[in-house]
Amino acid sequence: MNATDPIVYLNGKFVPLSGAQVSVLDRGFIYGDGVYELIPVYGREPFRMTPHLKRLQRSLDGIGLANPHTEAQWEALVRDLVARTPYPNQGVYFQVTRGVAKRDHAFPKDTPPTVFMMSNPLATPSREQVEGGVAVVTAEDNRWHRCDLKTISLLGNVLMRQLAADAGAIETVMFRDGFLTEASASNVMIVKDGTIIMPPKDHLILPGVTFDATIEFAQAAGIPLVMRPVPMAEAMAADEMWLSSSTKEVLAVTTIDGKPFAGGKPGPVFRRMWQEFQARKPHAMAPA
Ligand SMILES: Cc1ncc(COP(=O)(O)O)c(C=O)c1O
Repeated sequence: MNATDPIVYLNGKFVPLSGAQVSVLDRGFIYGDGVYELIPVYGREPFRMTPHLKRLQRSLDGIGLANPHTEAQWEALVRDLVARTPYPNQGVYFQVTRGVAKRDHAFPKDTPPTVFMMSNPLATPSREQVEGGVAVVTAEDNRWHRCDLKTISLLGNVLMRQLAADAGAIETVMFRDGFLTEASASNVMIVKDGTIIMPPKDHLILPGVTFDATIEFAQAAGIPLVMRPVPMAEAMAADEMWLSSSTKEVLAVTTIDGKPFAGGKPGPVFRRMWQEFQARKPHAMAPA
């Protein structure tokens, strides 16, 4: 095992990354025809593995692809890869594609899926990002209408993220027809008068595992929370705006489109939620 050639999993075998090869006819390569997950691992303990595996099943059902493994088999694979990877805190990425077949849009028959899994060091937010907040840009959400499926066809999200990268920001927060949806690889929520307001979990956003964790932690901590459509004007005038994802945990937005937002510093409800989050992570790990 070494950092430049880590062990990955491909179709039933653990192999060095340099030896993991997939056909150019794989439908993941040709069509982006597949789904994926990313599970954060703290101190070698996967965080919220079951909800990730349930969402994988939901995504597979959504694209009409049979799950090649039971939940118990996935769990064993994830734990096996974590054990073979030298970092305590990891991000386990895995994807299932519709396999290798002659190029034709319709589903191939009797084609085994391609299963790939790798684990990288988990890049949790820096202290500076937690304490100072982060910058985002905004854009009209022009992605397809099944953003609830975690598919590997991520070009829409890639183009959105690049807008942020070009502006030196970390995310692009999107609005569709005047309402908040999500960001390129995070969910988004706002706070007004002490209440967390989250957009509904419909077909226009990914049902984030961290989004659900935030709901659970807010309820446990007695922080009021509502889920309803969020008009753009309301989002831009909110007391706080947060991003959530498996790698970002929760982060406060303090700059939007180059201008300070909400006083330019993380608000009190965010600070409380961040504490709740840290206390409930496996091994209650300190931020990097
Ligand atoms: C588009 C999008 N929305 C939201 C999220 C957050 O989901 P989770 O909290 O499950 O990581 C992600 C994560 O990658 C994402 O890609």
